Amino acid sequence: MKFLQLSVLPLLIVILSLNGATLAHPYGDFLHCLSLRISNSSTISKVIYTQNNPSYSSVLNASIHNARFSTATTPKPYAIITPRKTSHVQSTIYCSDNHGFQLRIRSGGHDVEGVSYVSQVPFVILDLVNFREVKVDTENEVAWVQSGATTGELYYGIASKTQTLGFPAGICHTIGIGGHLSGGGFGVLGRKYGLAVDHVIDAKLVDANGRVLRRKSMGEDLFWAIRGGGGNTFGVVLAWKVKLVPVPPVVTVFTVNKNLEQNATKIFHRWQYIAHKLPKDLFTTVWVMKVNSSQVGKKTVQAGFRGMFLGGVDELLPLIQHEFPELGLAKENCTQMSWVQSILYFGGLPIQTVDILLNRHALPVSSLKAKTDFVREPMSETGIEGFMNMFLEEEADFAITMIEAFGGRMDEIRENELPYPHRAGILFESSYFVQWTNEADAGLCINWIRRLYSYMASYASKSPREAYYNYKDLDLGTNNIIGYTSYEQASVWGLKYFKNNFKRLVQIKTKVDPMNFFRNEQSIPPL
Ligand code: FDA
Repeated sequence: MKFLQLSVLPLLIVILSLNGATLAHPYGDFLHCLSLRISNSSTISKVIYTQNNPSYSSVLNASIHNARFSTATTPKPYAIITPRKTSHVQSTIYCSDNHGFQLRIRSGGHDVEGVSYVSQVPFVILDLVNFREVKVDTENEVAWVQSGATTGELYYGIASKTQTLGFPAGICHTIGIGGHLSGGGFGVLGRKYGLAVDHVIDAKLVDANGRVLRRKSMGEDLFWAIRGGGGNTFGVVLAWKVKLVPVPPVVTVFTVNKNLEQNATKIFHRWQYIAHKLPKDLFTTVWVMKVNSSQVGKKTVQAGFRGMFLGGVDELLPLIQHEFPELGLAKENCTQMSWVQSILYFGGLPIQTVDILLNRHALPVSSLKAKTDFVREPMSETGIEGFMNMFLEEEADFAITMIEAFGGRMDEIRENELPYPHRAGILFESSYFVQWTNEADAGLCINWIRRLYSYMASYASKSPREAYYNYKDLDLGTNNIIGYTSYEQASVWGLKYFKNNFKRLVQIKTKVDPMNFFRNEQSIPPL
């Protein structure tokens, strides 16, 4: 019945107003095309969500993780397609290409600039929420994970089979595998094992022509590009085969909080000289944010020194006391747990409830803006002081900077091994976030993070000032969302994310998607 209703839809001409210009858009043709190709009426109702469908809003909002792009004025997709089979993905590509819709691919929906579910031109979302299978093979120490699964679902899948294997991906358990692996993937195992993409050994991709490709059939160039060269650029990655890594049954995590009155600035200054040189088994990070001071009614800034050691507390304590005595780490700051529990610890969740890893909505959603830096030279003490003091400003009430030590395995991998180039010589990566709950505060908060970023210019890497693609920042520059984007225009942001690898990414894009079907504000353009 549903099929009939859809297939006899009149060829609706939707009049769209875009930048003052009026375009006629064959929305009905697109739906007609897709419903004909899917053909089974009960499947159609589970796969195509038009704006008239009562579930449209809940399907759209289910994977929006930045409320900044969920307002009444945010452009909405004409339809959301939730494929259940590879052929549905192929049909969506075919019909959106033939009927003039841009495609936004969404896996976990954590894109910080919302580009997986927002566009300024007519678009549909291909939402991989039903591509969530995780198959762990402990004997061969590999897993196949579909793009719509979250990192939490992968971690849970591994931990439910073994306590001695893990996977080196991001800290937050609700991020999608599809977007995360498309840009790199750094987490607490990063110093020991490198990025998530360093462990991808095969993938299944649907290209702009609808062909289903595996590593062998796509060739090493394209396989290189999809491991970090950006999402929604080379095709739809349906699944990834990853190599798992050994983890000990017991790891030790710790937190030591120091505020401005407790020498936070000096300790952070010292940390910069030590953290990247520590043994690979020890990852440390500093979380900077505003907190209440011990003086009633006053605020201060806290540097939270957190870490994970791949071993027991008895080995960790003498190591830190020898290498970094200024931290004052004591046994009571440390907790031993399994690797999978450490994911919950870093996510601020109770470690007893590993099942939370399966909850894609476990974390609250607010509005946010993010920026990143890679730092190659230690900051001066006065530089750090100025940085910390900026958190005392009113707009920084819900701001945090996560500063993650590099070195270890990251130093050993060549810059052009994969598209992600931020490797040897990086002391740490800083991810700056500002959040707000009241829309009226957006302007002030975004202005604050831009000022913070300007302040950091003298301390961050230079020529280019490197940035992490997975925390997309459209302030760095964008493509033309309709029409041609020149190499020079895209280089403005592209060199920051990919350094010299940008050129190779453009060459590969030109070969595999010359018509630029897969595109967004910061996708690699063809020549
Ligand atoms: P989403 O679905 O929004 O996709 C992101 C981009 O990839 C979009 O351009 C999208 O079109 C494209 N894409 C998605 N699926 C695709 C597919 N199957 N094929 C092709 N293209 C696809 N990073 C990190 O390295 N370490 C960390 O610890 C964290 N932590 C973290 C916490 C929080 C709260 C946020 C908001 C973000 C992070 N990140 C991170 C950044 C994260 O890795 C990044 O936002 C990923 O792109 C998210 O992937 P999703 O699939 O969730 O995003």
